[in-house]
Amino acid sequence: MNEMSKPGAEAKSGHNAPGSATLTLDGTGKSVTLPLVPGTIGPAVADIRKVYPELGIFTFDPGYGGTAATESKITYIDGDAGILLHRGYPIEQLAEKCSFLEVAYLLLNGELPNKAQMAEFDTGVTRHTMIHEQLRRFYDGFRRDAHPMAVMTGVVGAMSAFYHDSLDINDPEHRRISAFRLIAKVPTIAAWAYKYSIGQPFMYPRNDLSYAENFLYMMNAVPAEPYNVSPVLARAMDRILILHADHEQNASTSTVRLAGSTGANPFACIAAGIASLWGPAHGGANEAVLKMLAEIGHPKNIPDFIAKVKDKNSNVRLMGFGHRVYKNFDPRAKILQETCHEVLTELGIKDEPLLDLAMELEKIATHDEYFVSRKLYPNVDFYSGIILKAMGIPTSMFTVLFAVARTTGWISQWKEMMEDPSQRIGRPRQVYTGAPLRDVPTAAERG
Ligand code: ACO
Repeated sequence: MNEMSKPGAEAKSGHNAPGSATLTLDGTGKSVTLPLVPGTIGPAVADIRKVYPELGIFTFDPGYGGTAATESKITYIDGDAGILLHRGYPIEQLAEKCSFLEVAYLLLNGELPNKAQMAEFDTGVTRHTMIHEQLRRFYDGFRRDAHPMAVMTGVVGAMSAFYHDSLDINDPEHRRISAFRLIAKVPTIAAWAYKYSIGQPFMYPRNDLSYAENFLYMMNAVPAEPYNVSPVLARAMDRILILHADHEQNASTSTVRLAGSTGANPFACIAAGIASLWGPAHGGANEAVLKMLAEIGHPKNIPDFIAKVKDKNSNVRLMGFGHRVYKNFDPRAKILQETCHEVLTELGIKDEPLLDLAMELEKIATHDEYFVSRKLYPNVDFYSGIILKAMGIPTSMFTVLFAVARTTGWISQWKEMMEDPSQRIGRPRQVYTGAPLRDVPTAAERG
């Protein structure tokens, strides 16, 4: 029925000559010209805002696979080529040359910091690592066996009730302080969720440690004895945080933006993002990978498992494989594959059955026609689960760790949205397929 001229191949390769696409409503003689909005790189975007007013039809894109919901300068992904850039910098270089806090600064502010800027940023984050003492009491209200993501959602949301002096979303200084508070306090909240679940005392943050070191310290130390953080493990943790820091308009980030578009405060928005991240199709996948590997148990069971995955009636998926955007190797997965070996060597783990199983699965899946034809490659969660397990992080904390890292991306995206004068409330439309207009029958008529 509709005919839309496609953006040219040049636009796909990044040479976005301004132009337009035309959408014609067959049989009506009506058409609308859609301006093509160029990006710096990547495909141009047809601006469809006039489609409804001029043609009276909505566009339909369940799951938003082909719809840009916003303009953003933070992260670029080329899923076909396996490229991920933050503010133009390749993720591989950031993971190699920068610390997590430097990447956080970059995501928030657009440029990497110089020494003075970094020192100021570091101090800003460090000064906010403690949480309000009364917030501590929230933990007692949870069951000890609560999933730490449930605790995270609750406690981060509750921050709105404590930090009234940074809730004015129209004040740039309030926004800046909220960003510091979230980035700084989320590791403390996360580590305490873990400590609570195992009945150990909460460890207060240590501001002499780096971000990653401090997180490991709060997770693993106990007051009764000294705890030394291994530099290799701290580096691995820092790298995992960098690799999970931001990923364009994924489900949780879109949730944060949608919540933020209503004018909700940043703590409430990030709590919404945490809830969205929890699902096994998103951040919950690294936990699901470990559960899947345990279920498979032995390489000899892989063929049966793969057969189940291919059976459309089984509802079983190969967790840690596939991605909505990447139709190639996830660049983050490649980096983590190396980190995985470094960590296992540092820990002296030579024969890790789960890793052997994972490698075998990777080999089979990357050669099997089912996965190859659907372009299902290992994603970041495939390896992060194994590394975290080797580091002694309990499975239930995997997604929490993801949330700690992604808080930086969420708050950067929220800040960008707040600074955008064209920002409007997010309000998608629908194709209504329910009952047409009808009269309510009386109780007697309903029988
Ligand atoms: N195992 C088996 N088959 C799969 C998988 C998988 N992991 N992922 C996709 N497929 C198949 C689908 O069954 C479908 O096959 P069909 O064309 O024969 O019907 C085809 O590949 C396309 O799949 P979609 O569901 O359309 O892909 P979508 O883009 O909607 O889903 C997702 C992406 C959710 C990530 C999916 O690949 C998945 O569930 N993966 C496992 C969970 C996972 O690892 N999630 C982490 C994502 S990364 C992150 O959040 C950090």
